[in-house]
Amino acid sequence: MKVSPSLLSADFGHMARDIEMVNNSDAALLHIDVMDGVFVPNISFGFPVMKYVKQHSTKPLDVHLMIVEPQKFVNEVRDCGGEIMTVHYEACTHLNRVVQQIHAAGMKAGVALNPHTPVCLLRDIVADVELVLLMSVNPGFGGQKFIEGTLRKVKELRALIAETGSKAEIEIDGGVNEVTGKQLAEAGADIVVAGNYVFKAPQPTDAIALLHRL
Ligand code: DX5
Ligand code: ZN
Repeated sequence: MKVSPSLLSADFGHMARDIEMVNNSDAALLHIDVMDGVFVPNISFGFPVMKYVKQHSTKPLDVHLMIVEPQKFVNEVRDCGGEIMTVHYEACTHLNRVVQQIHAAGMKAGVALNPHTPVCLLRDIVADVELVLLMSVNPGFGGQKFIEGTLRKVKELRALIAETGSKAEIEIDGGVNEVTGKQLAEAGADIVVAGNYVFKAPQPTDAIALLHRL
């Protein structure tokens, strides 16, 4: 599977060192979690930090916006070097329009679902996006326990993607480790986000390599 290490679990006092580690690993992407304290009960970092991250990262930035009104920030994400911009289904009244804006800005569009939001709600958007991110924890914090029901959602999404002719990749975010990663690979996930499992490992590049081989 492709691996997208989540910078949220990095040591912010040694950000450049941790980005360098990801550069020298099997990671396909670098996952950037932006939180606003409104959509989720936590605040992480914003665009000034992302700009700095982009200068150091050789991996494409996989930007996960856990914010209300993400349509206001499409150009900022692009200007900060975002390659994929993922917005939450629950945060967008006019999701189709937001997806069009992301494409017009030259980025790939992703849509994220909270754990309680059913996959069937994506039926009329899934063919228009490059990525679907299924949250396997309630968004806002790293280091939480994987919600098992996500495995069924991956299978449902895989079927919906086949049925609609969508080219979207399936990314899973939250509680990924070697056990849940293997289950996700078997269920049909394409990309796993991993925060704590990677950055708290004694050898983070080995943890990335292990997930990559699943
Ligand atoms: C949670 C974030 C995740 C988080 C994952 O709201 O979207 O990307 O960093 O962290 P782990 O892998 O530790 O669950
Ligand atoms: Zn995330």
